[in-house]
Amino acid sequence: MPFFKSNRRSFLSWFVVTLTSTIWFQKSSASVTAIQIWERTIFLKDYATNNNLLYGAATQYSILDRDRDFARRFIEECAILVPENDFKWEKLRPTPQSFDFTKTDWLVGFALRNNLKLRGHTLVWYKALPDWFAAKVDRTNAARYLVEHINTVVGRYAGKIHSWDVVNEAIEPKHGRNDGLRSSPWLEYLREEYIELAFHTAAAADPQALLTYNDYDLAYDTPEQEARRTATLKLLERLKTKDVPIGALGMQAHLYAGSDRFNAKKLQGFMQNVADLGLKILVTELDVVDRSLEAATLFRDRAVADIYREYLDIVLAQPAVIAVITWGLSDRYTWLKKFRPRNDGTNVRPLPLDDNLDPKLAWFALANALQSL
Ligand code: G3I
Repeated sequence: MPFFKSNRRSFLSWFVVTLTSTIWFQKSSASVTAIQIWERTIFLKDYATNNNLLYGAATQYSILDRDRDFARRFIEECAILVPENDFKWEKLRPTPQSFDFTKTDWLVGFALRNNLKLRGHTLVWYKALPDWFAAKVDRTNAARYLVEHINTVVGRYAGKIHSWDVVNEAIEPKHGRNDGLRSSPWLEYLREEYIELAFHTAAAADPQALLTYNDYDLAYDTPEQEARRTATLKLLERLKTKDVPIGALGMQAHLYAGSDRFNAKKLQGFMQNVADLGLKILVTELDVVDRSLEAATLFRDRAVADIYREYLDIVLAQPAVIAVITWGLSDRYTWLKKFRPRNDGTNVRPLPLDDNLDPKLAWFALANALQSL
């Protein structure tokens, strides 16, 4: 029995989680038994697939290559893989003239061998640019760099990528423009047309991939996030009016346990407006920041799981949603360790699996949400 391998404490915590979750399942599930979960014969991807959805997670070459247990669990739970960093400019572009595809080639092979779909993240972003970028790229050559980058990267993997985040985080209402666009080198050098240029170039390089605009802070009922929803919708409308080949919106969903609340009506209204443009929707980077919660593990896990469930119940009511992707699979590897650490020094617990790769309440919340459609 894999659960009992590690130690007694891990068995006890697993027992408590299973008991709690069995009670949840009795409330909402006719088809899944605690025995199936106990014996690990059913995984998140199965719940999703049963409802024509994809479940997957972000991870990295450096993790999959060295942590075999994690890689095995990844293949079990996921139907789609998003390289968290390996496709970013700073990783692919050691010099202005060269590309290093060692890790992305490996990831494409890993995905193919293990029957995983693959997302490309990301082609045009204001962050994660290489050190040489600022000195080399300017108004006169930015279009050439952007087109060459997209042609080379998308062209290399044409036919093998499920969806590309063509443009990432182009909106920032706080920057004060009427169109809500973010100040960035791309905007400065190429004006707002950089977005359509990127989509047209990607579509020509891989006509099969689903081309996505991806952004964050679209979930909560706050004036800032309402402004971001409005600007995002306007951007998508402009692109569709101009026949730009965009196929989907990626909603990142870095959620947090805090005082902000969802407003189901507003969020669903926004998603319906997106769907009415003929776009699919992907939840692309779901996790829950737990830094403001008290330390007790069970309390924390329950609060995080409740946020997963509440968010997914709202979002999965929209038929245009085709995928749910968490930004990491296990608390063993999460960007939040470094970027949103807890003040009390305890490990952050934002993801479906714990540090031992065992399911937490967040896993059950996902499973329940994915199967109760
Ligand atoms: O690989 C280098 C390593 O060689 C070096 O020794 C080390 C020193 O700090 O840095 C390593 O690179 C880091 C990289 O993650 C890989 O771990 C970068 O410094 C670090 O900035 C980078 O952070 C990533 C961040 O995007 C910026 O690219 C996070 O892992 C990643 O989770 C995060 O993901 C973003 C999405 O792309 C877009 N949406 C928001 C999301 C969270 O910020």
